[in-house]
This record gives sequence, C-alpha cells and structure tokens, in this order.
Amino acid sequence: MNELLEAIEHRGWAVLPDFIGPAESIKLRDECEEFSRSSEFKRAGVGRGADTAIREDTRSDQIMWLEPSEAAIEQQKYLAKLEDLRLAFNAQLYLGLFDFEGHFAYYPEGGFYKPHLDRHAGSSERVLTVILYLNENWQSGDGGELKLWRNSGEKNGPFEIIAPRLGTLVCFFSGDHWHEVLPAVKGRRSITGWFRQRP
Ligand code: OGA
Ligand code: MN
Repeated sequence: MNELLEAIEHRGWAVLPDFIGPAESIKLRDECEEFSRSSEFKRAGVGRGADTAIREDTRSDQIMWLEPSEAAIEQQKYLAKLEDLRLAFNAQLYLGLFDFEGHFAYYPEGGFYKPHLDRHAGSSERVLTVILYLNENWQSGDGGELKLWRNSGEKNGPFEIIAPRLGTLVCFFSGDHWHEVLPAVKGRRSITGWFRQRP
C-alpha cells in the first residue's frame, strides 16, 4: 500500500501486479462472468446522466455498476481493501475522498476505448481512477492493453503499456492522465472505479 501511495504522490500513477492474489481474483472474474451471462451488463455510455450517449466510435465496453449491498463475499473483500486505501489516501495525501463508485467492465473481442480523461467536463468529483484486471493467462497478442500517458495533461509524450493481467491494479489521477484501451483480441474483464470528492 505504501508503494501505491508514494507513486501516486510523486508521479500521479501506479501499477501494482498481484494487488489481489490469484484465488481471490478468479472469484471476482467468475462473478463478473456470471453477471455478463445474465445480461445485467449494459452498453456503456459517454457523458453523464441524461446526456449519456452510446458512442460506437468512442468505446465499446459493457458495464454493470457494483451494488455494495448485494455484493458477493469476494467483492466485499475487494471493496473493503479499497476502503482502507481511501482512508490512507485521505490521511496521507489529504485528498478528501468520500466514496468509491465502480463497475464491472467487459470488452468483447474488438472492444476498445479511445484516449480520454475520466473526469466529466464541468465536474471535479472523480479524483482517482482504480482498475483491477481479471484476465487469467493473458498473453501478448491478446490485445486490450491500457495505454497510459505518464505526464499530467499530456496526450503525447511518454506512455506506459499495461497488460490487463489477473490481479494487476492500476491507479491514477482521473483528471490528469490521458489513457486508452487498445483493441482487445480476446474478451477482457475488469473492475473499474473512482474515488470521489464532494462536488
Ligand atoms: C474507463 C477506462 C480502462 C481499462 O473505464 O474509463 O478507461 O483499462 N478503463 O479498463
Ligand atoms: Mn477511463
């Protein structure tokens, strides 16, 4: 956890392989799979509230918002870990994060998400993006990497290419770091969410 806090404080982004162990990650993956079979998943929109539009050219993932009150035990454990993280960010970096909103995401074959920031125009609620990848035996060639630009505010310049491997956590300042999901060759699963400040 200290490694994560330090990376966020000093450069604004962090990648932690094996943040969640394989046994727990697989249970989360199974939960995600089960939901996607039961058609609880919806095509994700771009924008917010009534302005949400399905934009075929911007993103092609399907999502299902987490319902903490209905969460299975593994999901509750993951959410509890994020709660510890939230408190640590507040205590050490004074971020004033008051909650976490998150969803399961599924990118079908060919799924992608064009370069973007996670903060909606005119809103400063989303502070930190947190993504946990749920893809077992991910191989180079499977696509679906996260391209994350390292420097705050820059959509050019140096970037990281992050494989969406089972158990890897990625975290970055939502309004600062441009990022993109490269086309997935195989189906790709994750839990993506945001620590928020009060508006
Ligand atoms: C998002 C997003 C990245 C990923 O949902 O906003 O950028 O790697 N996801 O899943
Ligand atoms: Mn994003």
